[in-house]
Amino acid sequence: MKVLVIGGAGYIGSHVVKAMLDAGHEVTVFDNLSSGQLINLFPRASFIAGDIRHPDDLDRAFSLGFDGCVHLAAFKAVGESMSEPERYSVNNLSGTINILNACTRHNCTNIVFSSSAAIFGSPAYIPIDEGHPTNPESYYGFTKLEIERILAWYDTIRSLKFAALRYFNAAGYDPDLSVRGLERNPQNLLPIVMEVAAGWRKELQIYGSDYDTRDGTCIRDYVHVSDLAQAHVNALAYIVREQKSLTVNLGSESGVSVTEMVEAARRVTGKPIPATYTARRPGDPSALYATSERARSLIGWNPTRSDVDTLISSTWAVYQYAIKEGKTL
Ligand code: UFG
Repeated sequence: MKVLVIGGAGYIGSHVVKAMLDAGHEVTVFDNLSSGQLINLFPRASFIAGDIRHPDDLDRAFSLGFDGCVHLAAFKAVGESMSEPERYSVNNLSGTINILNACTRHNCTNIVFSSSAAIFGSPAYIPIDEGHPTNPESYYGFTKLEIERILAWYDTIRSLKFAALRYFNAAGYDPDLSVRGLERNPQNLLPIVMEVAAGWRKELQIYGSDYDTRDGTCIRDYVHVSDLAQAHVNALAYIVREQKSLTVNLGSESGVSVTEMVEAARRVTGKPIPATYTARRPGDPSALYATSERARSLIGWNPTRSDVDTLISSTWAVYQYAIKEGKTL
């Protein structure tokens, strides 16, 4: 198939590109490189520089004709979405509407969309299944939920088939080291732990040690980015084959606490990784993990790299490469 990967130079997008290429698809990346990086591009994929806020850019890309597209172009910092909602409105909401309208204009009838566990808010029960009530606690989560609803309307009115993939905590790097771009100013736990291990940051702050969990720190469902990427390939195949839309949770189904992650990182990297316990971060639910039963049964998704050691070792390998190259913070 001819597949357009919008946001394909980003952290998750570049892994999706690799999985699509490995599945034999002809891939074009569309990215404005605001957080995506040229170093993440694969020579086997074509590249179009463009911005989802500009319908003309999208027309230029979609006029090449695609069987399907994957949309991962979004701002994704939960905290920032609460201080700068306007940017999230324009980029995540308007930008996505531009993409859907371009799909309609150019007869691209299949789209895979990056949704998020952030649509659920604090869990009413765990593990979280697809029927769990949605109650986003950030504007970021709200944008993802609104887009899921808009997708359902475009399916009803325009027969656009979509797969909404609700990622839990994406982590890890391609074990083949084919993606080497490090996130600039990372906000997530594992890259911050890696920056401490690399000596680029003095210490890790662990937000809260008094949660009602087995060791007092928050529990999350970390899923390897290569496993996530494979889900995009399977989901696209499903919606094209079945001509049915799909909404699934994507998690590894096992909860890992912050302390467990840090201790595993010390063991895997052999670095001391100093950490101090500080106040809770506002808005953090104590425990969050998924059941991915629906993804297993409908799209045959079977995460194989989401164990803690593989998450850490694959990430550390990329950081070690950067250290060798002389990178500093
Ligand atoms: N944490 C720390 N110290 C840090 C960074 C994080 O203790 O320096 C803790 C957080 O408090 C949390 C856990 O590590 O308990 C994971 O935090 P992340 O920021 O890595 O991830 P979140 O679970 O907050 O959010 C992630 C994605 C969001 C997505 C959400 C959905 O970043 O985009 O999962 O569950 F919306």
